[in-house]
Amino acid sequence: MEASFFSLLSKTPSQLFRNFQALILLISILLLLWPSSSSLSVAAAAAAVNLEAEALLTWKATLQNQHQFNYHPLSSWSAQTSPCAWFGIFCNNQGSIANITLVGTGLKATLEVFSFSSFPNLVSLNLQNNSLYGPIPSHIANLSKLSFLDLSLNGFYGSIPSEIGSLVRLSSLSFTSNNLNGSIPTSFANLTQLLSLGLDRNQLSGYIPQEIGKLASLTTLDFTLNKITGPIQAGIGNLTNLSILRLGWNNLYGPIPEELGLLRGLVKLDLSTNNLTGEIPAYLGNLTLLDNLFLSSNKLSGNIPSELGKLTSLSDFQLYTNRLTGPIPPSIGNLSRLNMLAFSGNQLSGSLPPDICIGGVLKVFTAYNNSLTGPIPRSLKNCSTLTRLRLEKNQLTGNISQDLGVYPDLNYADLSDNKLQGELRSWNWGSLYNLSTLKLARNNISGEIPAEVGKAPHLNLLDLSSNRLTGLIPGELSQLRLYSLSLNGNLLYGHLPPRLGNLSYLEYLNLAANNLNSSIPNELGNCTKLLSLNLSTNQLTGFVPPEIGDLKALMSLDLSHNFLTADIPREIGGLLFLIKARKASTGNEYLQVFAIWTDEAALTYESIIQATESFDSRHQIGSGSSGSVYKAALQSTTKQNQVVAVKKLHDQSGEGVERLKANWRAFRSEIRALTNIKHRNIVKLYGFFSNAQHSLLVYEFMERGSLRSVLDDAEKAKELDWEDRVKIVKGIASALSYMHHDCRPPIVHRDISSNNVLLDLDFEAKLSDFGTARLLRPDDRVSTTSFAAGTYGYMAPERAYSKKVDEKWDVYGFGVVALEVIIGKHPGDLISSLTTTTKTTSPSSFSSPPHPTLLKDIIDDRITQPGEDGEVAKGVFAIAKFALACVRAEPSSRPTMQEVTMDMVTFAIPPLTQPFSQVSLEELFALVD
Ligand SMILES: *[C@@H]1O[C@H](CO)[C@@H](O)[C@H](O)[C@H]1NC(C)=O
Ligand SMILES: *[C@@H]1O[C@H](CO)[C@@H](O)[C@H](O)[C@H]1NC(C)=O
Ligand SMILES: *[C@@H]1O[C@H](CO)[C@@H](O)[C@H](O)[C@H]1NC(C)=O
Ligand SMILES: *[C@@H]1O[C@H](CO)[C@@H](O)[C@H](O)[C@H]1NC(C)=O
Ligand SMILES: *[C@@H]1O[C@H](CO)[C@@H](O)[C@H](O)[C@H]1NC(C)=O
Ligand SMILES: *[C@@H]1O[C@H](CO)[C@@H](O)[C@H](O)[C@H]1NC(C)=O
Repeated sequence: MEASFFSLLSKTPSQLFRNFQALILLISILLLLWPSSSSLSVAAAAAAVNLEAEALLTWKATLQNQHQFNYHPLSSWSAQTSPCAWFGIFCNNQGSIANITLVGTGLKATLEVFSFSSFPNLVSLNLQNNSLYGPIPSHIANLSKLSFLDLSLNGFYGSIPSEIGSLVRLSSLSFTSNNLNGSIPTSFANLTQLLSLGLDRNQLSGYIPQEIGKLASLTTLDFTLNKITGPIQAGIGNLTNLSILRLGWNNLYGPIPEELGLLRGLVKLDLSTNNLTGEIPAYLGNLTLLDNLFLSSNKLSGNIPSELGKLTSLSDFQLYTNRLTGPIPPSIGNLSRLNMLAFSGNQLSGSLPPDICIGGVLKVFTAYNNSLTGPIPRSLKNCSTLTRLRLEKNQLTGNISQDLGVYPDLNYADLSDNKLQGELRSWNWGSLYNLSTLKLARNNISGEIPAEVGKAPHLNLLDLSSNRLTGLIPGELSQLRLYSLSLNGNLLYGHLPPRLGNLSYLEYLNLAANNLNSSIPNELGNCTKLLSLNLSTNQLTGFVPPEIGDLKALMSLDLSHNFLTADIPREIGGLLFLIKARKASTGNEYLQVFAIWTDEAALTYESIIQATESFDSRHQIGSGSSGSVYKAALQSTTKQNQVVAVKKLHDQSGEGVERLKANWRAFRSEIRALTNIKHRNIVKLYGFFSNAQHSLLVYEFMERGSLRSVLDDAEKAKELDWEDRVKIVKGIASALSYMHHDCRPPIVHRDISSNNVLLDLDFEAKLSDFGTARLLRPDDRVSTTSFAAGTYGYMAPERAYSKKVDEKWDVYGFGVVALEVIIGKHPGDLISSLTTTTKTTSPSSFSSPPHPTLLKDIIDDRITQPGEDGEVAKGVFAIAKFALACVRAEPSSRPTMQEVTMDMVTFAIPPLTQPFSQVSLEELFALVD
């Protein structure tokens, strides 16, 4: 019997099943041996589990970021253990996997190799909050028992496979927060057991399928934040089990269907931020369980139906930014659970409902930007729960001094732009414990600003501008941590309290258009964060205190229309200083100062005037086509004394300066760009300053002055050996290459000359005046005036006829300067003579010129010859070669500065093919092509 049992087992199942008797026998044996189980089903189950385990391990092998985990969350997944013991895996009683839950485990992979068909018993698949990506595979539809599917918070993209529609047992489906696109498949209509459907926060487009009405079990439907278009299907009215319906932030249009009024169980309804039109259906008043109703940011018109007053469970009600007209129905006062009511940005008229805070739980009430009239409702006056109140831009009237209660939680209140009257005196300022912003601008508030204002401990923005406030500015304001204070446009008089200097957080101060009649207190200089200061149109007297000049952050200052004495104009932090002098006696209507300083130098106008003794000639170190240069040793208390070079532009009344003043904004941003340039061979620009007397450019100081001044001085020129000279030319080339090829847009210098090449102690060359030539003369007509943006003798010949600014202008100038470096003086006629000579040595002529010009004969003989073939000889040869190519008459035949740098700086210069002393200029000219 045992033998036959084992021989039976050794046969295949199909053979077994053919033999009915054997089958009966087998069953009876099995029942005898294992009364409660069956060895075959265990074996089959084991095989199935092996298949499941293999499928999971195959997928695990595709995870991309396993190395990121010291302890991998899936480390328990191994072939040695049963998958039922693995992390995130749960089996049913038969030992088959029923539930996979891998939430927030950092998994990064696609589902492409995930063998869904290996999991016939999977009921729940939860892969929420990982880094899974790629398309959702259509074979996910093989999970025929699946009831729970959550792939939210991953990076899945592509469209939703329509095969999902065959997962008819699904009760919960979430694809929230992925990048899915395409439309919602109509096959979803099959998912009639679905309770919850979350497709929000994707890129889904197309219409809501009409079949949606068939998902009769749905309690939650969320399509928020997609690109779904078309109308809201009336069929949604069939989904009578819905308690949450969110369709906000899509492109839905058309009316709100009345059928939504059938969704009696609805607790949350969000249709906000779409293009919905038409009126709000009165039927929505039937949704008496509603807690949230969001219809904001649509194009809804008509009146607010009074039936909405039946929504007595409503706590958050948002209708802002629509086209609603008419009054706010008094029935809204019945909504006693209201926490938040947002009606702003409509065209609502009439008065506010008197009982708006009747429930005593209202926190946020916004109705700004409407046409509301009448008084602030009585129930708001003791609405102590308020945190945010915005009623600005209406036509509210009435007296605000009466019965204002205590608002311990109120944080933000704006009642500006109404017609409110009354005084601030009777307010319980000390109870405004959390108030940070109070705006009452442009009303009809009278009386004095009470000293008690100082008791609202967290007030940091106070705007009482354009009212009829009178009296003094209370010094108690200085107890607050204000960053913005606007009291302009009132009837305040008396002095400006010096205590305002304690407002060390203050960024914005506007006291303009009052009757203040003191001097400006020095203490204002302590408000070091001030960005904007407006004291204009008062009766202020005396000097502008120098401390105002220390306000480095200041971007805007207006002291005009006062009786201030402004003998010394000051540069203020970088912008415009406007004093308009009521005294008719002075000729100067405006004193304007424009200044841009970088932080690298401790610069002020005074320090420059002081250091140069008002530009005394003793401090002058040079002069060029656009200005004279002075050395200024700045005295600094904080930093080490610093030496800068100050270029004082000629022609202060000239059109260049006028133009920059007219285009100050553009000029400022260009100067800023230039001050940001950092290159070893470009002189650092620290800033620009202009007032009625002077326009100044301030540069890094270069100890050895200009290349011209060194070459012109016999003693200094001797110090400049060939190695230094090669280094100088390479430096100029690399500066120009940087400006032409590495800056976007390219910057053309326009005025390369030996005057604009400066040398530091190590004879490192630095180009100066980059970009400023263009700024001062944007259309760059070649002219003989001192403002010509080019220096005679260095200007490319085509500039006589072409206005189009071109990098090749600089290439030409570079060629001239390079020749100057090796010749020791400006090449003068050499260039034109060489051009003529080479014309006559064209192949058609029968002889070489009688006397070739040898390179050795024209180079600077104040220093020893560079030798016949060493590094120095090679360098001088290369300079001559490139210089001659750069001064070619035809611009297109000149090399680019990039080519020059590549050959001279980047790569080694090739050895000479003949002794240096035999090289002729004519040969060099012919060499380069
Ligand atoms: C699901 O819906 C599609 C189209 O709506 C239909 O063709 C298909 O037969 C349905 N599948 C099941 C399993 O009900
Ligand atoms: C809504 O339900 C009715 C009745 O149950 C049904 O006839 C109709 O087809 C459904 N509408 C939609 C759009 O599913
Ligand atoms: C639903 O609202 C409409 C419009 O307000 C109303 O006519 C109807 O009586 C309401 N139905 C129920 C059952 O309250
Ligand atoms: C406001 O005052 C009214 C009447 O004086 C009172 O009925 C109501 O409860 C008060 N509300 C709050 C929030 O204190
Ligand atoms: C106020 O309403 C007007 C017109 O209704 C609109 O143009 C403006 O943008 C709104 N302003 C704000 C701040 O909502
Ligand atoms: C401003 O309020 C006063 C009363 O304080 C009133 O006489 C005057 O008419 C109001 N002005 C405006 C423009 O409403």
